[in-house]
Amino acid sequence: MSMYDDVEKILYSKESIQKRLQAVAKEMNALYSDADLPLLICNLKGAFMFLADLVRYLDFRHELDFIETSSYGAGTASSGDVRFLLDVGESITDRNVIIVEDIVDSGVTLSCILERFEARHARSVRVAALLNKPSRREIEVPIDFCGFVVPNEFVIGYGLDYDQQYRNLPFIGVLKPAVYQGS
Ligand code: PRP
Repeated sequence: MSMYDDVEKILYSKESIQKRLQAVAKEMNALYSDADLPLLICNLKGAFMFLADLVRYLDFRHELDFIETSSYGAGTASSGDVRFLLDVGESITDRNVIIVEDIVDSGVTLSCILERFEARHARSVRVAALLNKPSRREIEVPIDFCGFVVPNEFVIGYGLDYDQQYRNLPFIGVLKPAVYQGS
């Protein structure tokens, strides 16, 4: 059976994602045109595809780095225990940092990342999130650049996984409940 059989519905097609990313990039280009070499920090793994497409629409000079956090395990709800599996390779002191996230759900992950980077005295920290799911928020967090506000459904594809699968779907869709029921 194909992984496509596990998709209940498509929320955003690959074309609508690209269109929205161009609009988000336009906002970022306007804000960072004169900034002092911003550092984009991609939170792996979920944000890899968002980052790869987004940067192709950016026209300001910047640097890239990666972090990896993990909080979900194989379940569908955050464990609340955020682990940093990979940290940035260079100092962020006095840097203009842009965190690139795939989804802000409870806000726990982003809140931990922001706390960590603010303690390291970044000059500014902003957040670009592909998806915002405000209905599940537990901690208030800022999102400066947002792709889509999503309903409270289990979303997969375009980087987002269930049990480490489905990240390669070219669209953002909803997973059939039958796939994760009992997990
Ligand atoms: C997901 C997602 C965000 C976080 C959002 O990461 O990529 O980082 O959860 O959830 P929250 O707002 O409730 O904290 P996950 O831990 O599943 O790792 P992954 O990106 O490798 O899939």
